[in-house]
Amino acid sequence: MTQTQRILVTGATGTVGRQVVAELLARGDAVRALTRDPARAALPDGVEVVQGDLAEPDSLIPALEGVTGLHLITFGGAYFAPLETGPRILELARAAGVRRVTVLHGGGPSPLEDAVRADDDVDWTVLMPVEFMANCLEWADGIVTSGEVREPFVSRLSAMVHEGDIGAVAAVALTEEGHGGQEYVITGPELLTVGDKVATIAAARDREIALVELSEEHAIVRWREAGHPEDVIGFLIQAYKNTPEVGRTVVDTVEKVTGYPARTFAQWAAEHADAFTATAPAIKA
Ligand SMILES: NC(=O)c1ccc[n+]([C@@H]2O[C@H](COP(=O)([O-])OP(=O)(O)OC[C@H]3O[C@@H](n4cnc5c(N)ncnc54)[C@H](OP(=O)(O)O)[C@@H]3O)[C@@H](O)[C@H]2O)c1
Repeated sequence: MTQTQRILVTGATGTVGRQVVAELLARGDAVRALTRDPARAALPDGVEVVQGDLAEPDSLIPALEGVTGLHLITFGGAYFAPLETGPRILELARAAGVRRVTVLHGGGPSPLEDAVRADDDVDWTVLMPVEFMANCLEWADGIVTSGEVREPFVSRLSAMVHEGDIGAVAAVALTEEGHGGQEYVITGPELLTVGDKVATIAAARDREIALVELSEEHAIVRWREAGHPEDVIGFLIQAYKNTPEVGRTVVDTVEKVTGYPARTFAQWAAEHADAFTATAPAIKA
């Protein structure tokens, strides 16, 4: 019988971290979840919630006690500022007996990820998901209040991934042999345009949604009004206008690592239909 393993999940209150936690719990592992504010964590029963800050690595010492696997994020604080504390976090992890580490790639240079890759004493796995399906939740307000989605570059293709599948790949890499030194690009099972996504959400909530294409200039104005910094806007324009090949190529990592096919956007939309529910007339009478 496999021994229960204790895993420390950082970023555990985030979009991906919650899924890593859920997948580990479902596998029967002991999950410890790091947050800067346990009172706001709202994590499921059975999770041991601990306080700590990745920007202050020594605050992780109690959290690392008895841990065999560690899931890391590469950023801290507002606007995904890259963490510089990787070497100390890894030093503490090794001292605590951590054997496996997963790190969620942030899409750009990361001193923390570099520190993980340079560590020969742990089995590390870099998780490189493409666009999260959860990003579509940003459309919920517009869909609920006016039945429309306003987006630029609506023909762009995306191999978007269900965040549950990122969590599932992480859970396997954190608890099973054979994933050390791997970089896993993680995608969904299909390529979708913005129009495909909107139609899928419309079907899931059984209400029409209008797709309004914005010009690049108009999109920039809206992102500025929403308070996005200029470098984030530049990243979004680049990613949307010239989506890199990796973001529009389906790969079979999820099935290879977990044994299950990657979840579809239709599944995701059905799970989240309530978030998009409005009072507009139903498509079908
Ligand atoms: N969105 C996409 O399509 C996409 C695609 C590929 C990759 N990514 C990458 O995914 C990452 C974002 O992941 P996410 O969406 O799951 O994050 P998220 O939902 O924004 O959650 C942020 C998490 O970071 C934790 N955190 C922030 N600063 C911290 C600190 N100093 N110490 C400890 N914890 C801290 C927060 O914990 P507390 O507040 O509880 O402390 C929270 O759990 C980024 O690196 C992004 O580049 C995103």
